[in-house]
Amino acid sequence: PPLQRILSLADMENVARHVLSHKALSYYSSASDDEITYDENARGFTRFFFNARVMEPVSHCDPSTTILGHKSSIPVFVSGAALAKLGHPDGEINITKGCAAGNIIQMVSSNASLSAEEIASAAAPSQTLFFQLYKHKDDVIAEKRVRNVENLGYKAIFLTVDAIVPSSRERDIRSPWVLEEQETGPQWHTDGEGTADTSDVFGTAGALIVNDDRDMTWEKTIPWLRRVSKLPIVVKGIQCVEDAVLAAEAGVDGILISNHGGRQLEYSMPSFEVLYKLRKQRPDIFDKVEVYIDGGARRGTDVVKALCLGARAVGMGRPFLYAQSAYGEAGVTKIISILEREILTAMRLIGASTIKDLKPEMVERIDWQLV
Ligand code: FNR
Repeated sequence: PPLQRILSLADMENVARHVLSHKALSYYSSASDDEITYDENARGFTRFFFNARVMEPVSHCDPSTTILGHKSSIPVFVSGAALAKLGHPDGEINITKGCAAGNIIQMVSSNASLSAEEIASAAAPSQTLFFQLYKHKDDVIAEKRVRNVENLGYKAIFLTVDAIVPSSRERDIRSPWVLEEQETGPQWHTDGEGTADTSDVFGTAGALIVNDDRDMTWEKTIPWLRRVSKLPIVVKGIQCVEDAVLAAEAGVDGILISNHGGRQLEYSMPSFEVLYKLRKQRPDIFDKVEVYIDGGARRGTDVVKALCLGARAVGMGRPFLYAQSAYGEAGVTKIISILEREILTAMRLIGASTIKDLKPEMVERIDWQLV
């Protein structure tokens, strides 16, 4: 369909589902085990409703903010997700150019299909890029990587801590077998087990997570990263209040509450619930570090609710992969403009004309079963 018929991020995902190869769609859409955390990430937002205020002047409404001091037209950023080329030949560069046009920040994955150099050289001169780091178990190799991206002009390191081992994403693991079955017909079933390559049992994801450091600690790893880089450090993959507190005590600049989009620990708490608990139990943390969340956010209202609870910005992973797969760079700018319109509408209708007007009392958790 023509781009103007795309009204929502869900519409964009539908187009992507039609154009993506089986392998790419399996990799992008997959989540762990029964995909409960994936589903609940999205549902997590739906338990919260606004206490809207009216009769506030909102003809001038400004959804812009800064993330680690860098300007962003809306409080949304791209969460680094691997292998954009599976969905489109230009890969991550679609996202880079789309973010330049829409003035938001892209976090580039350690496992991008293009190199950190290629992506940095596609960026506009004043464009901000962050780098998502999978720390190699060999400190020397890891340090080289960090120094390289710092030299290339990346402005922050997002250290991913929730993916030290691969989880089981069955949609992804099954994908080559499904393809094989389509090619060889039903007699494949009678061939016994021999056909499947069990070395690939963790699918595309397993092939990527091989050399990661499984022994990271607050005491060792954060000071190491501070030593090798001057860049701000954000810990990506905080899944409970206790670790949010430890991260703040370790002196990082930000935390990204995330369960990897439901792709790592199955039954990890939905991100929005963790944000809610952190706001209730440790409001002081929001003054010490910038707090972000990702996982399941698909609407401007999701973003605005998270900001009411104190999040600085909201990351999105799959929506950008789907958008660039469906329409390349234009798809990326399209979803940024959809989100901007949705955020503006929500802000105006709850009586907020700037990000600073968004307050915890503007959202409330409703458990319909108890009402
Ligand atoms: C990811 N994610 C991810 N995270 C990371 O730190 N490094 C990576 O290389 C990847 N790769 C990756 C690939 C794909 C296909 C997906 C869907 C996700 C996780 C990502 O950064 C983010 O946390 C989630 O995507 C957020 O959830 P939503 O927005 O996809 O629901």
